[in-house]
Amino acid sequence: MDMKIRVHRSPGALITGIDAISQIGAEAKKMRATKVMILTDPGVQASGMVEQVERPLIDAGLEVGVYAKAVPEPPMSSINEGVQFCEQGGYNLIVGFGGGSAIDVAKITGVLVGNDSSVEDFVGIDQVPKRGLPLIAVPTTAGTGSEVTAIAIFANEKLNVKQGVVSQYLTPSVALVDPMLTVTCPSGVTAASGMDALIHCIEAWISVNSTMHTDPLAREGIELISKSLRTAVFDGNHMEARHNMAMGSMLGGIAFGNAGVGAVHALSYPIGGTFHVPHGIANTLMLPWVMEYNMMACLPFFAEMAVFMGEMVDGLSVREAAQKAVDAMKQLAIDIEVPQYLSDVGIPESAIEELADGAMTQTRLLANNPRMLSRDDIVQIYKNAAVRPGSEPVKAKENGKGSTTKAKAAVKK
Ligand SMILES: [Fe+2]
Repeated sequence: MDMKIRVHRSPGALITGIDAISQIGAEAKKMRATKVMILTDPGVQASGMVEQVERPLIDAGLEVGVYAKAVPEPPMSSINEGVQFCEQGGYNLIVGFGGGSAIDVAKITGVLVGNDSSVEDFVGIDQVPKRGLPLIAVPTTAGTGSEVTAIAIFANEKLNVKQGVVSQYLTPSVALVDPMLTVTCPSGVTAASGMDALIHCIEAWISVNSTMHTDPLAREGIELISKSLRTAVFDGNHMEARHNMAMGSMLGGIAFGNAGVGAVHALSYPIGGTFHVPHGIANTLMLPWVMEYNMMACLPFFAEMAVFMGEMVDGLSVREAAQKAVDAMKQLAIDIEVPQYLSDVGIPESAIEELADGAMTQTRLLANNPRMLSRDDIVQIYKNAAVRPGSEPVKAKENGKGSTTKAKAAVKK
């Protein structure tokens, strides 16, 4: 039994379920808010969904302002405008409403209001000096789990890398997860973000830093997402599937927010950073190959995972059952039409050395992985993922980076 000292952090309150958004006014008043800034992105605003958050707040007697300029993969230089909006408006509560990026921007805005610091000052672990404005996080996708984590990721345009701010002061005061708010999420985004959520659960479960607090959440998340992701992608109005995805994503967020993620994320970050492949797709490209690498280090986990995924394992050895989990992950990506090979998104084999260099810098994530990886191991994993069998290899462009057109097309799916 795990009897080491363990720390488990999660938001002050989780409010979940269909029409949970109706509770937001009462929650805001409990937090003694009078003036609420809804921080969202232009897509969510254009969809008309902001009304669903704004109305219950106004009905509760609160003054509301909407700032809808959060962008995907938020550049650090984009943050300041929202901070000024918040300061000038005198808001005393922020509602982060949207996908992971909008919620990340809301988290950092809350701790930047009222001081002269910038995002760059807070990069790294525990660099935020004090708690900021209270925050209610309301996701419109089931994927990042940002509504329950202490992490926010930004693009540092000066260094051309993604950087994370990790601080308990970023953890939202309240995570309000209403699956009704995810029904308009397009199928391609549902698929890619759903794979990200599943991978959070898998990597948290097999992480060397998993705990008795995170394991049950990760296992439940794998089961919920495995049984519902296909339905959520192809029948977006199916409320039970959307509910299971939203809950699985939230559970995965709490699990990986405490146990960490591993080699799938370590190897996918350079793919996202260099080729601008969306995070969930980059993770999916790496998942089966990293699982094959990890399999011998975690046979019992994978054998149980096969059962969670609905595979028939009667009469199989543990090793055979574990292989079923890897095969089931490959089949899931095929079924929901997420790219599975680097060549599917226009990344040439000539990029592998550069990708491996990038992955080697992800030391914190690699250290969570149940099996250690050398640079040669990482190169081999990228090679296994490189070219779809029977397809033409991708030709490298003059800059050696191949085509990003396919990667961008994958975003729009
Ligand atoms: Fe992720």
